Amino acid sequence: MEKLRHQHLLFTLLLVYSSNLLLASGYTLPTQYFINSGSSSNATVNRRNFVGDVNSGSSYFSVRPSDDLKDGNPENGTSPLYQTARIFRNESWYEFRITENGTYVVRFHFYPFLTPTNLTDALFNVSVTGYSLLSNFRVQNRSNSPVIKEFAIPIIVGNFTILFTPQKSSFAFVNAVEAFLAPEKFVSSTSRYITAAGSGGNYSGFESRALHIIHRINVGGPTIPPNNDTLWRSWTPDDDYLLLPGSAKNSEASNNTPNYDSSEATNYSAPVDVYKTAKELNRSYSSSSSFFNVTWGFRVNKNSTYFVRVHFCDIISRQDGDGIVFNFSIYSRFIEIIYSYGPTTKIGTAFYKDYVVYSDDSSLMNISIGPRSESPNKTAFLNGLEIMELITRESGSLPAPSKPKKNLIFVIVGSVVGVLACLLILLGVIFKCRKANSDESGEWSVPLYGGRYFSWITDRTSDNSVVSSLNLGLKIPLSEILYATHRFDKKLMLGEGGFGKVYRGTLRDGKKVAVKRSQPGQGQGLYEFQTEIVVLTKIRHRHLVSLIGYCDERREMILVYEFMENGTLQDLLYDSNEDCSTSSPRSELSWEQRLEICIASAMGLDYLHSGAKIIHRDIKSTNILLDENYVAKVADFGLSKSGEADQTHISTEVKGSFGYLDPEYFGCMQLTEKSDVYSFGVVLLEVLCCRPAIKRSVPREEMNLAEWAISWQKKGELEKIVDPFLVGKINPNSLRKFGETAEKCLRETGADRPTMREVVWDLRYVLDLQLARVPREGYADSITDGSFDYLPLSGVPYVSSPSFLLIEEDEVPIEGDDGSEETASEVLSQQGISGAR
Ligand SMILES: *[C@@H]1O[C@H](CO)[C@@H](O)[C@H](O)[C@H]1NC(C)=O
Ligand SMILES: *[C@@H]1O[C@H](CO)[C@@H](O)[C@H](O)[C@H]1NC(C)=O
Ligand SMILES: *[C@@H]1O[C@H](CO)[C@@H](O)[C@H](O)[C@H]1NC(C)=O
Ligand SMILES: *[C@@H]1O[C@H](CO)[C@@H](O)[C@H](O)[C@H]1NC(C)=O
Ligand SMILES: *[C@@H]1O[C@H](CO)[C@@H](O)[C@H](O)[C@H]1NC(C)=O
Ligand SMILES: *[C@@H]1O[C@H](CO)[C@@H](O)[C@H](O)[C@H]1NC(C)=O
Ligand SMILES: *[C@@H]1O[C@H](CO)[C@@H](O)[C@H](O)[C@H]1NC(C)=O
Ligand SMILES: *[C@@H]1O[C@H](CO)[C@@H](O)[C@H](O)[C@H]1NC(C)=O
Ligand SMILES: *[C@@H]1O[C@H](CO)[C@@H](O)[C@H](O)[C@H]1NC(C)=O
Ligand SMILES: *[C@@H]1O[C@H](CO)[C@@H](O)[C@H](O)[C@H]1NC(C)=O
Ligand SMILES: *[C@@H]1O[C@H](CO)[C@@H](O)[C@H](O)[C@H]1NC(C)=O
Ligand SMILES: *[C@@H]1O[C@H](CO)[C@@H](O)[C@H](O)[C@H]1NC(C)=O
Repeated sequence: MEKLRHQHLLFTLLLVYSSNLLLASGYTLPTQYFINSGSSSNATVNRRNFVGDVNSGSSYFSVRPSDDLKDGNPENGTSPLYQTARIFRNESWYEFRITENGTYVVRFHFYPFLTPTNLTDALFNVSVTGYSLLSNFRVQNRSNSPVIKEFAIPIIVGNFTILFTPQKSSFAFVNAVEAFLAPEKFVSSTSRYITAAGSGGNYSGFESRALHIIHRINVGGPTIPPNNDTLWRSWTPDDDYLLLPGSAKNSEASNNTPNYDSSEATNYSAPVDVYKTAKELNRSYSSSSSFFNVTWGFRVNKNSTYFVRVHFCDIISRQDGDGIVFNFSIYSRFIEIIYSYGPTTKIGTAFYKDYVVYSDDSSLMNISIGPRSESPNKTAFLNGLEIMELITRESGSLPAPSKPKKNLIFVIVGSVVGVLACLLILLGVIFKCRKANSDESGEWSVPLYGGRYFSWITDRTSDNSVVSSLNLGLKIPLSEILYATHRFDKKLMLGEGGFGKVYRGTLRDGKKVAVKRSQPGQGQGLYEFQTEIVVLTKIRHRHLVSLIGYCDERREMILVYEFMENGTLQDLLYDSNEDCSTSSPRSELSWEQRLEICIASAMGLDYLHSGAKIIHRDIKSTNILLDENYVAKVADFGLSKSGEADQTHISTEVKGSFGYLDPEYFGCMQLTEKSDVYSFGVVLLEVLCCRPAIKRSVPREEMNLAEWAISWQKKGELEKIVDPFLVGKINPNSLRKFGETAEKCLRETGADRPTMREVVWDLRYVLDLQLARVPREGYADSITDGSFDYLPLSGVPYVSSPSFLLIEEDEVPIEGDDGSEETASEVLSQQGISGAR
């Protein structure tokens, strides 16, 4: 008992340290019942105290006509559990008090020892509330080992009844009963759904299913008795199921026993003994080809659904090797590529994969592994396998036990150690807070350019279940991402930031993508991850980077975007460590090109504000990306905030990047769309001056780009600080208008700043001035006051002008500030441009 508690303590601690959702999960010491049926004495078997159910005053058990039986002549060495049995000659039940919802492991031990009552004559049904577990069950043969039937049953708080119903003129019996709360993840919540015809999406709905354990296989290893398993499971060898016996050979971990990583398998998933042995492709089996499959076949019922859990641990590769990539398949039509170690875990880490398999018309479930040609080590392996049949809930068809008024009932109260549980929760809270604090201070102490404030977020809008409730069509399997990025090959890395790393990749269908992978435990948190998915699935716009999918398998937080060939605006402008006034510019973007980029990103932002009612909150030059045609798109919605109802938000935390932060937002914690306008103003100056928002290698007054440039703008001498590359190339009117636009964006008070729509208009005018499409020199009225008469220079073909092309294809409806619906072309016609479409 003591040992059991100790283990659960360990398990709970594991959960505490590995889970952000700690308080939601609330796993405490499990409720547990172990019953030595038909005995008046307790039996301690493998660290469990099986309480005798005869004359015991401390357990629930209804005694309808039932006899206890003793084996008068137990064989030498027979476990005390199998020396007694309880016999039911009429409908009878055990009743347990359940105090915690969850999946319970329920086991029945049947051992027909020799007695005057021939126990192999027993024929009966066993059911629990809602589920029929055993029908017309009979233990046919007397053997030296008991028959153990194991189930995993979802049980809700209350009285839990196990009903034994003998067939007419027969009886039921049982030697021992176990029921205890299973650890979390004992059964997964969703799994790939596979039929004999192939893969068919995802399966969820385990809450209303019980599982009957059919096979539990220690592949490549010996029988593991209950004593050697963390949850008293039995594992049997695989050899009897191997279709071609010579095709695979056993291998055993030589030195390091498998590692458990809290994000993968734990020793409750399967014990070390399972993971440290495996069957491996026997390459000397076939002389003709080294590409053959190893297949196991398991008898299953037709038209039944099975939960299949497959255990892997690479005990074959060298620790410094490249691991193994191989095929795993069920029913040969479904193939999954298995990487022998995960992106965050090293070789030798235990992990498992879950599937739900429908047997269809097949009575043999085939499970195969096979090598892949791209794998450095062309082999394949398997460590363990569990197959469980899903039992569907029968609504109302089961007879409730007909309870007589006065019955002899006794109770086993589950030994839930409440104090310990509280202590653990407390520990968890302290741990969580400490973690949050350290992250915070970490961010504050290095407030570098591009760094973020408070990336550890517990926001009132945070909802841990967001990802699971999302459109699963966007979910991309980790194996596909590993394929696309060559297992996060460093050579494919595009960049690295506070959030983690970005890789370029190519999906199997040839599509180029950017893969943003959050570093576990740092940078972008779960909240940002979820926000970004939610935001990006809601919006689509030509000037917003679109999300192709995401992956949250194995605690990864990976976002997959369309690939933007030409990288970030910042990279195009200057080296982020230097700037182009001190070194040669990386790229020589013309003023016109720069204006196109500004207009496009302003349009993206305008759609975000007026169309989607979203505040981006982290506008900066590294969040503006360019595709192969240098068309700009706004990216990174991790901090964005939806403003559905009200226009302003009082936020408890300031989020954003140094140098771009709206002083009003910073000061009053008041977040509006105008905060984005401010940040965008900084980007405009960056584009003009070709230097970072915060620069450290310069005198104090020059450090902050916004302050410095605005002071020059106010002196009317902005041209003195423009990018040297642009000197002499900017039309003075264009520059003046641009300076005014930036200055308006950077006004102290949000209310004084223009909307993004107005910024778009102003910037278009700046471009027109540059292209000399406006006749009068020095014309400086804002086009946003409505009085501006848009007069084209004769001879300049409007439709072919670059700025025009940007708008032309833009069909996304945007809402006017007065709430009226406008389309991009209507906006154009307001400006006097006809024939926009
Ligand atoms: C059996 O174990 C239960 C629960 O631990 C205990 O209450 C009871 O006294 C024990 N009975 C015997 C006969 O030791
Ligand atoms: C069981 O058998 C062994 C030898 O086979 C013997 O030494 C032992 O005393 C026996 N135990 C019982 C309980 O009969
Ligand atoms: C079994 O239960 C039924 C219904 O509850 C009752 O009519 C019958 O007498 C019982 N049989 C015995 C042997 O107690
Ligand atoms: C017990 O019953 C089974 C089948 O009903 C029969 O084969 C077996 O001989 C019986 N054993 C005894 C000891 O009566
Ligand atoms: C029981 O024994 C019979 C014959 O002795 C055999 O045919 C049958 O397969 C056995 N059943 C099991 C479940 O071992
Ligand atoms: C257990 O589950 C039921 C039904 O889902 C729910 O009503 C109840 O609040 C849960 N109880 C606990 C203690 O979680
Ligand atoms: C559970 O069983 C206990 C003891 O028999 C009883 O007092 C209680 O009313 C039962 N609760 C329910 C919900 O049946
Ligand atoms: C046992 O279960 C089978 C199949 O569900 C059913 O047909 C039979 O009537 C049940 N027997 C009793 C005694 O309830
Ligand atoms: C079970 O565990 C014991 C002690 O830990 C060990 O001696 C024994 O070899 C193990 N048996 C198996 C089959 O692993
Ligand atoms: C399985 O389902 C198919 C179609 O639903 C049916 O034709 C077949 O008889 C079923 N087989 C069994 C063994 O129930
Ligand atoms: C490749 O596999 C063999 C066993 O099949 C193993 O001995 C060897 O260490 C592996 N090589 C690497 C580089 O992991
Ligand atoms: C191995 O299995 C896969 C998947 O079932 C199959 O596509 C492939 O043809 C098989 N290879 C051989 C050599 O049988």
